[in-house]
Amino acid sequence: MKLWGGRFTKPTNELVDEYTSSIGFDQKLAQQDVKGSLAHVDMLAKCKIITDEDATVISKGLNIVSEKIQNKEAELSVDHEDIHMNIEKLLIEEVGAVGGKLHTGRSRNDQVALDMRLFLRESIVMLTELLVGVKEALVEQAEKHIDTLLPGYTHLQRAQPVRFAHHLLAYVFMFQRDVDRLMDSYKRVNQLPLGAGALAGTTFPIDRDYVANRLHFDGVCENSLDAVSDRDFVVEFLSNSSLISMHLSRLCEELVQWSSSEFNFIELDDAFSTGSSMMPQKKNPDVAELIRGKTGRIYGNLMSMLTTLKGLPLAYNKDMQEDKEGMFDTVDTLKGALSLFAPMISSMQVNKENMYKAVQQDFSNATDLADYLVQRDIPFREAHSIVGQIVLYCIKQNKFLLQLTLDEFQQFSDSINEDIYESLKPESVVNARNVKGATSEDRVREQLDYAYFYIDSN
Ligand code: ARG
Repeated sequence: MKLWGGRFTKPTNELVDEYTSSIGFDQKLAQQDVKGSLAHVDMLAKCKIITDEDATVISKGLNIVSEKIQNKEAELSVDHEDIHMNIEKLLIEEVGAVGGKLHTGRSRNDQVALDMRLFLRESIVMLTELLVGVKEALVEQAEKHIDTLLPGYTHLQRAQPVRFAHHLLAYVFMFQRDVDRLMDSYKRVNQLPLGAGALAGTTFPIDRDYVANRLHFDGVCENSLDAVSDRDFVVEFLSNSSLISMHLSRLCEELVQWSSSEFNFIELDDAFSTGSSMMPQKKNPDVAELIRGKTGRIYGNLMSMLTTLKGLPLAYNKDMQEDKEGMFDTVDTLKGALSLFAPMISSMQVNKENMYKAVQQDFSNATDLADYLVQRDIPFREAHSIVGQIVLYCIKQNKFLLQLTLDEFQQFSDSINEDIYESLKPESVVNARNVKGATSEDRVREQLDYAYFYIDSN
């Protein structure tokens, strides 16, 4: 007999049970469900809706059920549809009919919303901690590579040299925003939906603030209809996760490029690479590739949640049961990626020499030659054109700027003097950019200080 079987005259079709049940995946919420029920039953007794004796029996029973589920001793069945009814059924088996008092003044609609929020609260804290670990790994590498220069790119064409620390710190700031976003979202997750009942509240004199307090919520959802139909907090989480994945994926793409023979800027540790079944020489950046690849499913989970919610009338609709798998999958996928990311970054070898060779063999100091002419009172547009011609000349001569003789330079402009050689060195080029946020040593150290400050304050 179903817990709601009273008004039915025949059993549900087996396929319907199978199709509509969520126990296959929402059993992940068992601990949250029990936690919520313990707070609820405690409140029912405090408000004299049930007796203290009944509350004690129910609480004890819930703890036993919880333990049995944890130890896989309890049978969870599609016949009881979801984790909420499975637990209620197990409770009644454990303590008898009095267990049926647990659901007084409550609906699965506010109950499931509560479980989701409890689950997400923990997940946000766990993922934030992992993200801080990723930031730490990046900052640690940045600290070691303040003087490591490499080409900075635009359009994947060499543009201007940067310090490797600067490049890594760019990601630190992205991940800092991700941490900020997660922490900010926490306060919207941390509102108690319980007490909204099925949609309209309850006739019992319950105390929602008491439950909120007991479960460490910041407050209660103000509107019962909103409380049971709101999954904004899930969408927000999936969206924040998508941004995190996007950032991870962009850095993974760079790691993949940098570890290719074409770049040869880094080498990922053997422990974070894999081989080929056929080609003995191969060492593949599979972890970075897979983190990049799994971004697809994280975006997919966001899209599917948004689409599921679109057009749902108030209040609860069964469609909303689809909120869970995507959220669980995103939490697990992101946890996996972040857990691997920090040690992969920490153990990566940086080929300083190759990076430096690259900045010596490009035209990433061309802007500096133009700026040099501007300092000698040539309008920038004119200077740009002169340098363009010099670059063209170099390409024909198969030379880089620093390989030109002073005579060659002076064929293009007599404003160029001996001091040009100092100005065009990669070290001078990065140090010449001394505005806030730029590549000079002082400015990169300043960024590092910010990064440390954020890590300390997280
Ligand atoms: N298993 C359901 C879900 O996850 C719980 C809420 C069901 N409520 C209902 N009235 N059918 O959404």
